Amino acid sequence: MKISFTDSLPADTKLVAHVVSKGALPDSLENVLAAGAKAARFKGNAGQVFEGFAERNGKVVRIALAGSGDKDAGDRMAKLEKAGAGLAAKYSTSGESTVVLDISDSGLGAEEVAAVLLGLRLRNWRHDTYRTKLKEEQKKTLEAVKIVGAPTGAETAWADAEAVAEGVEFTRELVAEPANKVYPLSFVRKVRERFDGTEAEITVLDEEQMEELGMNALLGVGQGSEQPSRLLAVRWNGGGAERPTVFVGKGVTFDTGGISLKPGPGMGDMKWDMGGAGAVAGAMLALAKRKAKANVVGVMGLVENMPDGKAQRPGDIVKSMSGQTIEILNTDAEGRLVLCDALHWAQKEYRPDRIIDFATLTGAMIIALGNEHGGVFANDDSLADDLLSAGRQSGDKLWRMPLGPAYDKLIDSPIADIKNIGPRPAASVTAAQFLQRFIEDGTAWAHCDIAGMVWADKPGATWGKGATGFGVRLIDRFVRETVEK
Ligand code: BES
Ligand code: MN
Ligand code: ZN
Repeated sequence: MKISFTDSLPADTKLVAHVVSKGALPDSLENVLAAGAKAARFKGNAGQVFEGFAERNGKVVRIALAGSGDKDAGDRMAKLEKAGAGLAAKYSTSGESTVVLDISDSGLGAEEVAAVLLGLRLRNWRHDTYRTKLKEEQKKTLEAVKIVGAPTGAETAWADAEAVAEGVEFTRELVAEPANKVYPLSFVRKVRERFDGTEAEITVLDEEQMEELGMNALLGVGQGSEQPSRLLAVRWNGGGAERPTVFVGKGVTFDTGGISLKPGPGMGDMKWDMGGAGAVAGAMLALAKRKAKANVVGVMGLVENMPDGKAQRPGDIVKSMSGQTIEILNTDAEGRLVLCDALHWAQKEYRPDRIIDFATLTGAMIIALGNEHGGVFANDDSLADDLLSAGRQSGDKLWRMPLGPAYDKLIDSPIADIKNIGPRPAASVTAAQFLQRFIEDGTAWAHCDIAGMVWADKPGATWGKGATGFGVRLIDRFVRETVEK
């Protein structure tokens, strides 16, 4: 989507949009438009859009009023994004290619304008790669926004927001692509391509190197697949001498369950079992593109979980890189096996100040929180609070979940150090306890179980059906508020 700033209404304008706060129609609005908006019960609620027609520069043009809700709301930025998203939802396939956003008399500040644009761009994103037979009226037509009357600083504010948009879109693409297109090697290739031209540093470990390091838990998951596993690290050094913050992502590019095979119906969803790694990749792209003043590393464990003659079996025991042995009682509890080696390696390699993992780890997380919040587990209250706050500000919402010794006991194994499943109750918590056993004393750690958040069956605030890009804005906000300060 092309976004540009101009001083006056372009001569070829066909569609003009105004952002309208709740109950505050602009004075300059023609009487007939104001009356039309009133008759249509347009109140200026966030996301509400009213359409009318009026003469501008002697020509009849389409006029859209986009509601941004209560001016004094605590979640003002999210509401402004909804205003932009509302416009995209309405005009994406409308036949219009350009919307002129006239904010001359809106009173919006630079950051606020950027929020409207971010919402507009994110909601306008679609994954049409494989839809070769779309009818004309189904095709996306909206491809440009021209902003008239922006306050000073709006272009700079947008440059930062644009980096975030690119990150979210990259994540959505990785998540939406099927598993015959996104597998460990192609994931790495796409990251290399997308980071080309940035100053981020990319490291890839192949199976031989991982074997050397003793990453048998991660390798065991991939051993039933024809697709070789990879560990991918993207490092952004924008913060001087401070110890880095590390984000780790579960990148199971397809999860059949392995020998503990999942039931057929719904298994296709497991193409997005790499949503944690996808979020980390997209967030790192945003940070690199906006040149964040922080030292951050994104580590992604990339494997495909398949059943074949070489696949690992329930009952197998593996030795993880940390030295701890794991009894694998269910090959479908594979995410924790990938993460435990990735987490251990990341701590050894980078000595992080704090380490935060993102994973579509348990179905039980969806049972607990649905599609409204991701669950956050943490060994450090201030880290948890910072993540919860970043979640509220960004709209990628989290809810804190418990940890404790009574839960931890449930994953003791009679034959090895630890088993990879607990009993049915509290399955998301025992999964988190498993990960905690691989965190070194004194390291602040948080685990975000985002199983319910990376894919949407219905459109939301700034996304349509499908991949949401959850996590990118959360990580970006967390880095701004906690690391860059
Ligand atoms: N990737 C799944 C979790 C998942 C399920 C994410 C549904 C999104 C939607 C994970 O690898 C898994 O299979 N977890 C099992 C763990 C169980 C075997 C202890 C689960 O949640 O059922
Ligand atoms: Mn699984
Ligand atoms: Zn999985």
